[in-house]
Amino acid sequence: MLSEKSRPIIEATLPIIADRIGHITPDFYERMFAARPDLMDGLFSRSSQLEGTQPKALAGSIAVFASYIVEHPDSYPDEVLSRVAHKHASLGLQEKEYPTVYKYLFEAIAADLGDAATEEVVDAWSEVYWLMANALIKIERGLYASQANNVTHAPFKVVDRQETGDNVVVLTFEPADETPMTEAKAGQYISIITKARDGLRQPRQYTLLPSDKNQRRIGVKLDPNGEMTSIIHGLTIGDVVEISNPYGDLTLEGFGSADAPLYLFSAGIGVTPMISFLNELIESGSQRQVTVVHADRRLDTWPLREEMTALVEKLPHGKLVTFMEDEETGDYRGRVDIAKLGVPAEANVYLCGPLPFMKGVRSALVDAGVPAQNINYEIFGPDQWMLRS
Ligand code: FAD
Ligand code: HEM
Repeated sequence: MLSEKSRPIIEATLPIIADRIGHITPDFYERMFAARPDLMDGLFSRSSQLEGTQPKALAGSIAVFASYIVEHPDSYPDEVLSRVAHKHASLGLQEKEYPTVYKYLFEAIAADLGDAATEEVVDAWSEVYWLMANALIKIERGLYASQANNVTHAPFKVVDRQETGDNVVVLTFEPADETPMTEAKAGQYISIITKARDGLRQPRQYTLLPSDKNQRRIGVKLDPNGEMTSIIHGLTIGDVVEISNPYGDLTLEGFGSADAPLYLFSAGIGVTPMISFLNELIESGSQRQVTVVHADRRLDTWPLREEMTALVEKLPHGKLVTFMEDEETGDYRGRVDIAKLGVPAEANVYLCGPLPFMKGVRSALVDAGVPAQNINYEIFGPDQWMLRS
């Protein structure tokens, strides 16, 4: 809990820090990577740094955390902490690195604020940092302790490779050593570490598709401007990569009422968590009303179309509604139009797809009376808290 001494200082300086953090974080990363270039090898994504999404996500989370604990002195923003801790754990982050981030972040804060970085301001923000760090460390310890093994990554070999949709490759992996595998929950993801063209090890996250228990299966959309998907697309049977244990808190359990009507909205490669949810609903014999809404350009660009439609057909109360932008082959032509769906206010909703798609569907649902807390989503990149605003 934030001390009474620090609270007024945080309240008074929150607008300044929130305003300056966008300048502070790039300087912090520059300082940290100059001193610790090894952190870029297998832990941080070089592209997230170049694109600036990771500095924004970190900046966003510190400001969100500080304002939350000022407003709610007796609790923490669990949703924010959980998402970050799962991401950290999938990357194998070790708790000994928290002082590293602290050192370079606070050097950057002192450099940016100059005389305004008085001892009491630095002490109050150090308290916020360590409150957040200790909360993350606690969740991360629990996540590591719940695995079937004590490694962060293990070698896996490609045993199958299929192409689907528009530039999407589905890869199946099996362990390449004796490390026991943790059973994944539907909706969880793994980090896969492969070497970039210059040999630097780079991690990326992929949602797990349904598979046999001794396998990991993923669907990877080629990003023509990205660094690692072209390399992952080039993997062939027998190639070995490092894969983390499964993490991620976007699962079907623990979210909303278990028998409320379920709406799964996907676009493009956003099908991956939905396919896992559908498989879990079938395996658990669910009697829920499930409406799957998929948006794509055309039928042939829709990744894993046969698998997804077959799963919906197996559900006792499943329905599929499609919106195709470029042709008349869907139920509707054009972008998703909530008015066509009659979503009830008590629905539980999951969204996954490009950010503009999720923002559009989410605000239309909120306008239609679905409470924001019943709308869950997975962002295939650092969460910049944009949907929360
Ligand atoms: P990156 O190299 O990471 O580049 C991404 C973007 O960064 C590029 O489009 C470009 O705009 C920008 N960029 C890259 N280099 C530069 C540069 N030098 N300067 C400026 N900007 C640059 N993806 C899937 O396909 N399937 C999934 O099931 C899936 N699940 C995910 C689950 C989670 C929880 C998360 C977080 C992500 C998931 N992703 C998934 C996304 C995946 O992790 C990768 O982000 C994606 O595959 C792109 O990887 P990449 O290395 O090709 O692109
Ligand atoms: C990702 C916050 C400590 C390494 C993130 C994200 C946030 C965050 C918000 C983005 C999560 C998302 O995907 O939405 C924090 C906070 C910390 C902290 C508040 C301290 C209190 C650390 C430490 C390290 C670290 C100590 C290691 C040195 C990473 C990495 C990522 C990440 C590698 C993934 C980013 C990428 O893809 O490049 N963190 N973090 N973090 N964090 Fe942290």
